[in-house]
Amino acid sequence: MTTIVSVEANWVLDSRSSPTVEATVTLADGRSSFAQAPSGASTGSHESWERRDGDPDRFGGRGVSGAVDVVRDEVSSALSGMDVTDQAAVDRALVDLDGTENRSRLGANTMVAVSAACARAGAMARGVALWEHLAGERRPSLPLPMVNLFSGNLHASGGMSIQDVLIVPFGAGDESTAIEWAHDIYCAARAILAERGASTLVGDEGGFGAPSPSSEAAIALAVEAIVRARRAPGEEVAIALDVAATHMLQHDGSYLLDGNALSADDLVETFVAWADRFPIVSIEDPLGEDDWTGWGRAAARLDPTVQLLGDDLICTHVDRLERAAALGCANAVLVKANQIGTLTEALAVADRARALGMRAVVSARSGETEDDWLSDLAVASGAGQIKVGSVARSERLAKYNRLLRIARGHGAPPWSGANGFDRALGPQG
Ligand code: PGA
Ligand code: ZN
Repeated sequence: MTTIVSVEANWVLDSRSSPTVEATVTLADGRSSFAQAPSGASTGSHESWERRDGDPDRFGGRGVSGAVDVVRDEVSSALSGMDVTDQAAVDRALVDLDGTENRSRLGANTMVAVSAACARAGAMARGVALWEHLAGERRPSLPLPMVNLFSGNLHASGGMSIQDVLIVPFGAGDESTAIEWAHDIYCAARAILAERGASTLVGDEGGFGAPSPSSEAAIALAVEAIVRARRAPGEEVAIALDVAATHMLQHDGSYLLDGNALSADDLVETFVAWADRFPIVSIEDPLGEDDWTGWGRAAARLDPTVQLLGDDLICTHVDRLERAAALGCANAVLVKANQIGTLTEALAVADRARALGMRAVVSARSGETEDDWLSDLAVASGAGQIKVGSVARSERLAKYNRLLRIARGHGAPPWSGANGFDRALGPQG
């Protein structure tokens, strides 16, 4: 029996010790499935609303008892009687029940936990893997990971202004090789830091805190770690940046990069210089979330093969994706289900990106749990790329290890491969 009889929720703790919503769906045959909501720190202002209690006496205001209550009082009766295998209908019912533009009634954290729990129950009811259930008519693929190596800004204290320096093992022939290379480079980076007496403490996504306030030095160090791990920078492994420039913006519209206030144009020229010096294939949020002009400038000045990836710019919203496509200012979208609310909507953004000739990268948040539904979502989407942080800390490894299990299972989908990054860098990187 695939009918939903009840939905419950409760709070559990996430990787930053913030409460988060865990939803449990029970079916008519008595079986149940649960899922947990992730949570961002470097959030965009155009994201859907995250429901928190705001009661300073409990969990510092970050409690989710309102979310728990609304599941018991409204969501459960709205979904009960529905066929759990019809994910689109379940998600539509959640969207209708919320009834607001930015999910300001139920909260996107409430919705994503319920949506993912239903997806998992639907897969269980059908007797298929979650990725298979979610894929529908899509062509699923095993995604190329973009792996966090160094963090700064809101994800790690005391370091550089840009948020993340990541590695992209695009030359790997399969998922497990890509993850093994990421491990080797991560360990090489740790060894280099230790030799220099720098801290090897890690940030929110498992990457090392940047050793100095220089973003450029962190990029150079990432290249050094790739070489130390006996991989060829630009030929086998490339660099990606998440600048998260919204969080570098100052009141006068300038961007504070490692202590220097730069205009949008000067910031773009910095990226152009970095892309000349280093094998950079992807730059996420190079400019602020509403700086469409600055984004346009980046698109005009950078080589078109560089992936310009909109996170805070697009916030997994189709209307903002359409605008970015029309302006030609981004050529890829970061897909985070809790920036919108449901898994169906997140998959629709990845689908629309493909139809527009753009790429999509399915992404975790800096606040995560041991839940691994994200890996199945990424595989199901066929997006070809995933970003879940570093190859350390269990909330990150839950996702990588799930990818490994999917890759090693029967009927595994094909490896997505280099995603064109091999062509982007040319022969000498
Ligand atoms: P967040 O950051 O989850 O803290 O918003 C992740 C990212 O910027 O990609
Ligand atoms: Zn980002």
